[in-house]
Amino acid sequence: MHKALLKLLADGEFHSGESLGKHLGMSRAAVWKHIQHLQEKGLALESVKGKGYIVAGGLDLLDANTIAEEYKKSVGQGLQHLQVETEMDSTSQQLLRRSAANEDIHGAACFAELQTAGRGRRGRSWQSPFASNLYFSLGWRIQSGVAAVEGLSLAVGVALCEALETFGFCDVQLKWPNDLLYKGKKLGGILLEISGDAAGECDLIIGVGLNVAMPESASQNIDQPWVDVKALAREQKINLPSRNLLAARCLQSLFAMLAKFESLGFAAWQAAWQKRNAHQNTEVQLLMGKQQVNGRVLGVDTSGALLLKTSQGEQSFIGGEISLRAVVSDKKSER
Ligand code: BTN
Repeated sequence: MHKALLKLLADGEFHSGESLGKHLGMSRAAVWKHIQHLQEKGLALESVKGKGYIVAGGLDLLDANTIAEEYKKSVGQGLQHLQVETEMDSTSQQLLRRSAANEDIHGAACFAELQTAGRGRRGRSWQSPFASNLYFSLGWRIQSGVAAVEGLSLAVGVALCEALETFGFCDVQLKWPNDLLYKGKKLGGILLEISGDAAGECDLIIGVGLNVAMPESASQNIDQPWVDVKALAREQKINLPSRNLLAARCLQSLFAMLAKFESLGFAAWQAAWQKRNAHQNTEVQLLMGKQQVNGRVLGVDTSGALLLKTSQGEQSFIGGEISLRAVVSDKKSER
């Protein structure tokens, strides 16, 4: 996608093909080709005879400099490299590739305006429409194997809730292991992947998808109730922050957590997680492949395992392939 063209259109004003061509140093025909490409990617770009092209309402585009400036406003340390692209297959795939090529991805953050192959947990896809939500991944080097970071994905959820709370948003909850929910609807998801030796030196790739202003057109492909930060802002009478500011606060909160996690372990985030547990004391069903277990949620232990009171007594569960459903109200399948 043409970054400079997007920047010109972001103001929500009319631009003639001629003026766009002049600014970008290309012919009107070339501009038209790029415009068509943007429309194909789902951008609501109108063409009005005699007036030109317009993105009604403008665009809130991500900008690496703005994110970095905002990030630096707090004691932020940890962020080593920030990449913001207009289009990518998957930000997590990008960091996995870089890790596999032996590049240093410790402290790397990679954002995309659009993902063509965004993925979620348990082999699902992640709807990633253009310039509307946040899709990003962080790289973090672990020296002593993944066992040392047990529960980290839950702490990521806590860090994201805390980032949203800095704007005054409240009542964002966590669904074990690491979905962000608001009033039972999915606000965001986290995908943790590993590259390298899981028992020794390896890179963690932390993928985050946060619904900010999901366009209606994309929402038709989502198979479970969802909500976005825009709806939350409307409901809680808070000004919707720009995606750049949201991105910067998420990075501050996540890197602050990551810096401490290896030495403190999940125990330091257990209470914060439980405080936001969407299913505390409710009846749930865990799905593990073909196996199902029913029970009442007691909380999480210091390793991040889910504690259930089942007919067999108290049992704990851990593992990325498990999915949880509330028995009464939340029966629709997971995204
Ligand atoms: C889930 O299934 O709840 C996890 C969703 C994680 C989506 C994010 S978007 C950025 C990163 N890149 C991906 O392909 N997936 C993660």
